[in-house]
Amino acid sequence: MADPIYLDNQATTPLDPEVMDAMLPFFHEKFGNASSIHHYYGLESKKAVEKSRQVLSKSIKANKREIIFTSGATEAINLAIKGVAGTFSKKHHMITQATEHSAVLDTFKSIEKKGWDISILPVNQNGEVDPQDVADAIREETVLVAIMHANNEIGTIQPIEKIGEICRGNNILFFVDACQTFGKLEINVRDMKIDLLAATAHKLYGPKGIGFLYVCQKDPKVALEMQMDGGGHERGYRSGTLPVPLIVGFSRAAEICIQKREYEYHSLGKFRDLLLNGIKDKHSEVILNGNIENGLSHNLNLCFPNLEAETIIMKMRGIACSAGSACTSNSLEPSHVIKALGRNNELAHSAIRFSVGRFTTQTDIKKAILEINNVVSFLKSKREKRIKKTFQ
Ligand SMILES: Cc1ncc(COP(=O)(O)O)c(C=O)c1O
Repeated sequence: MADPIYLDNQATTPLDPEVMDAMLPFFHEKFGNASSIHHYYGLESKKAVEKSRQVLSKSIKANKREIIFTSGATEAINLAIKGVAGTFSKKHHMITQATEHSAVLDTFKSIEKKGWDISILPVNQNGEVDPQDVADAIREETVLVAIMHANNEIGTIQPIEKIGEICRGNNILFFVDACQTFGKLEINVRDMKIDLLAATAHKLYGPKGIGFLYVCQKDPKVALEMQMDGGGHERGYRSGTLPVPLIVGFSRAAEICIQKREYEYHSLGKFRDLLLNGIKDKHSEVILNGNIENGLSHNLNLCFPNLEAETIIMKMRGIACSAGSACTSNSLEPSHVIKALGRNNELAHSAIRFSVGRFTTQTDIKKAILEINNVVSFLKSKREKRIKKTFQ
């Protein structure tokens, strides 16, 4: 049997072969510790790290000194939120919104247990947060607002510029989880008035295990409490030997994404539309979660009324996709994102995310449409038969 068609690019992306080529020498020949600056091998690695830092910082219009490498976005998010909280001796207030990734929501739960007050704002039926709600939630003791750039399940893009404006006007730090948009949408941290931003390489055809936190160093100079004791790497913000091959891979992946950004955004949008129309033609009852106009072009999230997402996914042997996000798909709870849109438990349990990517082909989409439609038809007729039997 052929490998299943991969339609789960928002969970993670395959490594781009060009990224692999850039990384390989740093596993073997160029193996030095980037902190061993007194010999050739260490300096060679340090140079590669600093070149990568330059590429990554430039891609969001930041400064080299503002990038802290971490093991991924989860760590960057923890460092941002707990790091800011740790600089205050008294507990204050922070604001976030309902469809954030569990890495953000759970970090807030953790500081809430320590006495911080957290406001979780609602979203509208498309998953958008209203900037006015952010403004209204601000109190004298508010110190940070955390709003993601785009959602990992439904692709909704948040009004980051407007929220940045509100935060800056109130002298409140603004943190953005940009895991789903870094390399895909243009990000200018200065214009968008972002003070902290988390990104990860494995969503943009880079390696797993590497991310960064951008920390604004000028107007405002953001202070953070370090979360990892050790050798004082990354200017004291994050101790631990730097994974040079992963860092090199991250920056190469970002370069390629930025080069291809416009083309990919449009071509993936065409695949998304093809998939949506192909399913709707046969099953007009499906419900779109999020909206096309204000959503990531590679994301398609659909509710299949009266069916269970898990059952559909298990039956579709030829397609790899997910119900909810990869991080919560082990949970039996319906997705908190779909629930936040106002859907009931039953509908939320029927939601499936399909996400296309750089290596998806038109043939993949056509085959996927056939398989999705067949499985959904089969499950619908099975359900109808069961209902008929019950009422006979
Ligand atoms: C929006 C969002 N935030 C955070 C994360 C966590 O990223 P990482 O896997 O690098 O820890 C993910 C990945 O699933 C994500 O999609």
